[in-house]
Parts: sequence; C-alpha cells; structure tokens
Amino acid sequence: MLRIFLLILMLSSHSHAHNHGHAPLWQQASGWPDRIIVNPGKDATTSFSVTWRTASHVARSVIQLVPASADTRFDLAAQTYKAQMEVFNLEHMQTDAGLHHSSENSLLDSVHYHSFTFENLTPDTLYAYRVRGERGKWSEWLQTKTAATNGKLSFIYLGDSQNGVRSHWSRVIRQAYQTLPNADFFLHAGDLVSVGDSDLNWAEWFDAGGFIHRMTPAIPVRGNHENITVRNENGRKRVRTPFWRAQFTLPEEKNLSSSLQESNYMVNFADTMTLFVIDSSTKTFTEQVKWLDEALASDKAKWRVLTMHHPFFVADKFARNKTDIKRKAAFKQLLSRHRIDLVLTGHIHTYLRGERSQQTSRTADSITTASEIMGPVFVVSSSGAKNTNLDSDIDEYANDKNSLLQISRHAGNTPMYQAITIEGNSLNYRAYTGVGSQYDAFTLTKSAQGNLLTEGKAAFGEQRLFTNTGKYIDWYDLR
Ligand SMILES: [Fe+2]
Repeated sequence: MLRIFLLILMLSSHSHAHNHGHAPLWQQASGWPDRIIVNPGKDATTSFSVTWRTASHVARSVIQLVPASADTRFDLAAQTYKAQMEVFNLEHMQTDAGLHHSSENSLLDSVHYHSFTFENLTPDTLYAYRVRGERGKWSEWLQTKTAATNGKLSFIYLGDSQNGVRSHWSRVIRQAYQTLPNADFFLHAGDLVSVGDSDLNWAEWFDAGGFIHRMTPAIPVRGNHENITVRNENGRKRVRTPFWRAQFTLPEEKNLSSSLQESNYMVNFADTMTLFVIDSSTKTFTEQVKWLDEALASDKAKWRVLTMHHPFFVADKFARNKTDIKRKAAFKQLLSRHRIDLVLTGHIHTYLRGERSQQTSRTADSITTASEIMGPVFVVSSSGAKNTNLDSDIDEYANDKNSLLQISRHAGNTPMYQAITIEGNSLNYRAYTGVGSQYDAFTLTKSAQGNLLTEGKAAFGEQRLFTNTGKYIDWYDLR
C-alpha cells in the first residue's frame, strides 16, 4: 500500500514538472526569432530599438534595416547589424537582489535575448526591418515608422492587461489596433502580466499582441506585478523582474540608479509631446521625483503626458498602504510647480477620468461647451480581464478633500482602451470598450489661460456599472 502511495506521489510530482517542461508551442524558444518588439528611443523621431528572443544555441543574431519603399524588392539595399546578446536563465534568474530560483519556469532551458538600437534615423519615415535567429531563419519584414516633427501624433493607451492576457486581452489590443492602425506607439500602463517571473505569462503577452508589438513601438510602464520576490541567502526582497530589461530596450537615463534604468525614462516626440514614464512600484520616490522635477523644468514640448502605474491622485481613504500615501505626497507637489496635461495610469482595474478643476455643469446640453480647467486630466484604465467593483465607492474617490480630482466619467465591468490624437494645439481623447464603441471623449485645446476642456458626446449617456452590465466572475487563472 505504502509503495503504491509513493508511486502515486512520484507520478504526480513527475507529471507536474513534466507540464512545465512541455510548454505550449507559442511559449517555446527555437532557432527562429520570436517575442520581437519595437520600443522607441529617447528621441522617437530618430531612434527605435528592437528586442527579440531565440533558443540558447543561437549565439549570434543580426538585424537588417532599410527604408521601406513600394518596390517589390525594397529589401535589396538593407544593411545588416550585429545584435547585442544576453543569456537568460529562466529557472535560476539573475536579479538586482542576487540569484532567484523561479518555480514558475521549472525545467525551461535558458534562452537568448537579442537587441539593437537604431539612431540618427529620418523622422516620419517608414522603415522595414527583420531579425535572424539561426542562419537562414529570418522573421518576416516588419514595417515601423519614426515619429513626425510636424506637431501630429497619435497613440493607444492600455491599462493593466494582467489577467487572461492571451484569452481575454488579445481582443482588446487588436480592437485598439483597428481603431488607430497608424498609432505612433502603444502605451502599456503597468501590470502587463500577473506573475512577473513567469515565462508563460510573458509568452501570453507577446502572443496576444502578435505583430502589433513588432510594428508599433511599445512604451511599457512597470507595475507592481513586474516585481518578484527573491528569497536567498541575503533574505527576502522585492525587485524588478529581470524579464523587464531582457525583453524591452528602453531609453536609459544614465544619472539614475541601475534599478530604475529602463523603467524610469522619457520619450520625446519633437516639440509635440514629451512622455514621462515613472516606475511607481518602488519603495521610495525621492530619486524619481528629483529626476522628474528637473526633466519637467527643462522640457519644451507643447504637450506633456505623465504615466505611472499607480494613480497617485485618488482619495486618501482608498490608499492600500503607506507607500500609496507616500507616493501621493511625492508626486502631487510637482503638479503645483509644472504644467502636466494628462496623467495616464492603471492599477485599480476600473475606468475613471477626472480633472483637477472647478466643478462645471455637466449635462447633455453642455456637450459643446468648453470649460476652462486648471490642471491635468487624470485617467485610470484597465484593459485586462480583472475588474474591480467600485460602484458604491466611486463618488468618494472625488469627495475626499485631499483628492486632486473631480471624477467626470467612470465605468465598471468594462475593459477599455484609449486612442489619443494630438494635432497642434488640440488633444483629442477617446476611450473605447472592447467591442470598439466609444465610452468617453474629450478635447483639450491650448489657450493663453490654460487648457480648455470640451466634453465629447461619448462622455455622456448611461454609465456602465456592475449592477447594469453582464455577470462578472473574478477568476485569476483565465485560459
Ligand atoms: Fe497594479
């Protein structure tokens, strides 16, 4: 009997490990390049980076680039560049806190990440690139465009993908692509995945995004789920997942400490816009606040967008811990010193948009009435399959005296994406549901007094709440 029991134990533990060893095809590394992604350089008009992965037998990888043309053989003038390579041990990861054994990735072989940064490119130009794994094993030719210098810009903003990334989030990012196929970039406002050190989670994120990640530059913001807990001889520490720097190639801010490199950065779109990306999943904020303070002081762009995963502007009573209070105090003070037009965040798994302004009358009749606003427009959004029920709390998000905002539009039980278009003095914002219908909209117009906000039609109409929409099940293991 005991022997049978032991045998069952052995079989069950074996089959557990066995499953990890038999990753789905869309997770497995091979001689072919995969997980290809474009990220903008610090100057998005002249620079972009490409990162991709291969199995570990591919020691040398190359990338080719050519200005795209209408010619059949546009590729004949392509130049070849040797990529940077990084060995990535999935089971025994190198982290900022030392070696981390990842039970998520048991029995998975090491992989190689490759990357290359192009600089001094021509603005507003369509380029074609492809990457090679093993000799002869090339990706398809992929077209990506440098940003323009003519004051025009558009982008997609997505909140937490996090849960059900492959099963449920894929339709949202693809719908977003259909809404704005020529977007200059996709902004992912943190918690891209649920388990930061899970190779399977990241495989889902890359599979769901498909060629969108390969063609439209991605701007990822680090969330708390891109932290991992490292337990080793140095104790227990929460650090950024090493997948972050391996999988993305983002602008480096040389003066910042290494733990912030590539998760605290900015991207310039000529004089049109500067996007400031903050890593809000740290314990202290002094270094980032100083960096942001200086960066904002010297910035010359017409539009300034701040993004970080945690909304630092919600009422104090909804703070989940001391760090939330600390973060709010740290970043709130910057708003009184610098003009910021738009703050884009996630983390709460809901949709809300608010302004830091005097209350204006908001009826359907006033749709076309412009109202002066005093400060930035704040947004929380969520694109994944986890949604928090704030039906009964939402008014208090705004009513707290310490809160920075008056909430204008909210949605529960509704994964969303946003399309934002800038043209000269005007910024047009539209929020869409996963079926591509507009749910919220406004336009900001620059004037001598500040930004004027005009509500769009979609800002009105019935509010989607948990009580008047379909059934929701909070299920953390969506497949
Ligand atoms: Fe989060």
